[in-house]
Amino acid sequence: MSNKISIWRKGFRKLIRYSDELIEEIRSSNDIVDVISQYVILKRSGRNFFGLCPFHKEKSPSFSVSPDKQIFHCFGCGVGGNVIHFVSKIENINFKETLELLANRANIALPTLDTSYQDNKKAMLKSKVYEINEIAAKFYHETLYKPTSKEAQEYIKKRRLDNRTLKSFLIGYSGTFDELSRLLKEKGYTDEEILASSLGIKAENGRIIDRFRRRLMIPIQDATGRFIAFGGRVLDDSKPKYINSPENIVYSKGRNLFGLNIAKKGDTKKIIIVEGYMDAISLYQRGITNVVASLGTALTENQGRLLRKNSEQIIIGYDADGAGQAATLRGLEILQNMGCDIRVLQIYGAKDPDEFIIKYGPERFQKCVDSAISLVEFKVKILKQNLNLENVNDKIKFLNEVAKILAKVDNNIEKEIYIDKISEEYKISKEAIYGEVNKLIYTKTNDQKILQRNPVKAYIKNEKSEKVDESIIKREKMVIYILVNYPEESYNAIKNTITPEDIKSELDKKIIEKIYEKYESNSTSDILDQFEEEEVINYLSGIMADDFGITDINKCIEDLLNTYNKEKLVNKRNEIIKKLENNNTSEETAKLEQELNEIILKLAKVK
Ligand code: UTP
Ligand code: MN
Repeated sequence: MSNKISIWRKGFRKLIRYSDELIEEIRSSNDIVDVISQYVILKRSGRNFFGLCPFHKEKSPSFSVSPDKQIFHCFGCGVGGNVIHFVSKIENINFKETLELLANRANIALPTLDTSYQDNKKAMLKSKVYEINEIAAKFYHETLYKPTSKEAQEYIKKRRLDNRTLKSFLIGYSGTFDELSRLLKEKGYTDEEILASSLGIKAENGRIIDRFRRRLMIPIQDATGRFIAFGGRVLDDSKPKYINSPENIVYSKGRNLFGLNIAKKGDTKKIIIVEGYMDAISLYQRGITNVVASLGTALTENQGRLLRKNSEQIIIGYDADGAGQAATLRGLEILQNMGCDIRVLQIYGAKDPDEFIIKYGPERFQKCVDSAISLVEFKVKILKQNLNLENVNDKIKFLNEVAKILAKVDNNIEKEIYIDKISEEYKISKEAIYGEVNKLIYTKTNDQKILQRNPVKAYIKNEKSEKVDESIIKREKMVIYILVNYPEESYNAIKNTITPEDIKSELDKKIIEKIYEKYESNSTSDILDQFEEEEVINYLSGIMADDFGITDINKCIEDLLNTYNKEKLVNKRNEIIKKLENNNTSEETAKLEQELNEIILKLAKVK
C-alpha cells in the first residue's frame, strides 16, 4: 500500500514505520471541521460547511468541508482531500511532518523505539477488553431470560420494554456474585484482563468478583458498535440508581454517546440528545429512532463532534428541571461554538422524554420535536423566567439582555424574525429592540489568515485528457461515489458485475482498483490515503464532495448494475454478430446463433 512512511531515527539507525492503523487513528482523531476552522472561517449550509478557499483567491465561498465524509473540496480550484492533505498543503509540510503535527494536536503518542513494545502490549490488552465486553453483554442478555431472573423480568414489564427493544440494545441482567468473572476465566482470560475491563473487581480476599450484581444491564457501544462499557440500574429505588463502568483502557464517557450506533442505522439528519439511557431506549421503542443519550456527564466537545458528524440538526431534549435546563444551556453553548444547528425540545406535563412518550404517545412527541425552539428563543425564554416584565426595571433589564443575545445573530433576516416574535410576545416595540441591538453591533474582525500559497496544480479534467464520453465518466464517478459512501450496500454487488476492465477512464479505473483492493484486505484506512498523486486526490475528493442526489441507494445500485450488464450483453451481441458474418462451418454458426439467442433473451430481461 502507498504512503507508508519510514523514519530513520538518528542515532538508532533503525526503521520505525507508522502503521496504517496509526495513520488512521491520527486522521480520525482530528476532526476536519475543527482543524480547518483554525485557518478558514466556515459557515454551515445544509450538510456541509463553506468558506473562502485558502488555496486560491476568491470572493464568494466555493470551498466546502464535509463533516460526515471528513473531506474538503474546493469547487473553484479543484483542490481537495482529507485532513492530512489539508494540513500538509496549508502548512506546506510533508506527510510525515503533517502526521506529527496532527498526532500532537490529538495527543496521540507516536511510536518510538522504546515505546513500540509497550504500545503493542496495550493494543493487545485493548482488544481483549473489547472481547470481554462483548461476551459480557451476551452473558447478561441471556441471564435476563433465565427462570432465576424473575425480578428483572418483572421490572422490564413494569418499564414496558418489549422484547425487540431488549434485543436491539442487548439489555441484560447481571449475576449475583461472580458468574461473569468465572465464565471469563473458563474462557481463558487472565485476572489482569478481567480487571482491565472493569467488569471484575478484586475482593478483600484477593479473589475476583463481578462489579455488577443484580442490576439491569445496559451495554454501551461506540459509534462503530464495539462494546465499551455498561450502565447497571437497580431494580428498586435504592441508591445509587446506576453503577457505570469506570473509564478504562477502552472507555471514555466524554467521547461516546449512548445509542449512536443504533440510531445510525436509521435516518439521523436530525438527532435528539437526551439525558437518560432510559429516555433513549423508550423513545427508540416507540419509533423515535434518531436518539442518543449523553453518558451521565455534561456534553463535551468530543460528543458534539460525533453529533456534528452524523447529523445536520441537533435537538437537545434534556429534562425539564433546573439541572436539565442548566445542562441544556452549557450543551447549547458548546454545540453552537462548533457551528451546529441546534434546537431545544420543549415538553410539558412530564419530567422527561420517557414519561412524556408513555403518557402522550409518539405522535405528540414528534410534534414537540418538529416545533423545538432555537437557541435565541430558548435564551430569551430563560431570561424571562427570572424577571417580572410588569416591573419597569425588569423590563429594561430584559430589553438589554435580549439585545445582547440578538446582536450575536449574524443573519439579518433571522434577526428580524426574532425581533418580530419577541416584540409581539413580550409587548416591546420593534423600534426599541432595534435601537438596543444596533448600539451593540460591533464590527467583527476578520482573523482569517490571508494565505498566499502557490497556486494549486490545475484540476485535471479527466474528460479532456482522455476523450472518454462525458456520460460514461459521470457513470463511473457514480460507481466510485457509491463504493466509497455505501460500501455495505454496494461492494459485493458492484464487484461481481463491474470489473476494472469495464471502466473506460484510466483515472477512474485506477481509483476503482484501489477501492477494491482496500475492501478486499478489509483495510480500515481512509481511501484518500491510498493515493500519493495530488491530481488523483483532488479528483477523488471532488467525486466524494459531489451530491449525486441519491434518494434510494438500492434502486440506484440496481440501475447502475443494469446499465453495465446491459452494456456487456450488447457488446457480446455485437461480437457474435460480427463473427457470424465470417465464413463459419455450419456447426460453428449454429453454436453462435444459439449464444446470440441466449444473449437476446437476457437483454430483454435487463430492460
Ligand atoms: P436519570 O435519573 O434521568 O436516569 O439520569 P434514566 O436513565 O432516565 O433512568 P430511569 O428512568 O430513572 O430508570 C440520567 C442519566 O444520568 C446517569 C445515567 O447515565 C442516566 O441515564 N446517572 C444517573 C448515573 O450515571 N448514575 C445515577 O445514579 C443516576
Ligand atoms: Mn427516566
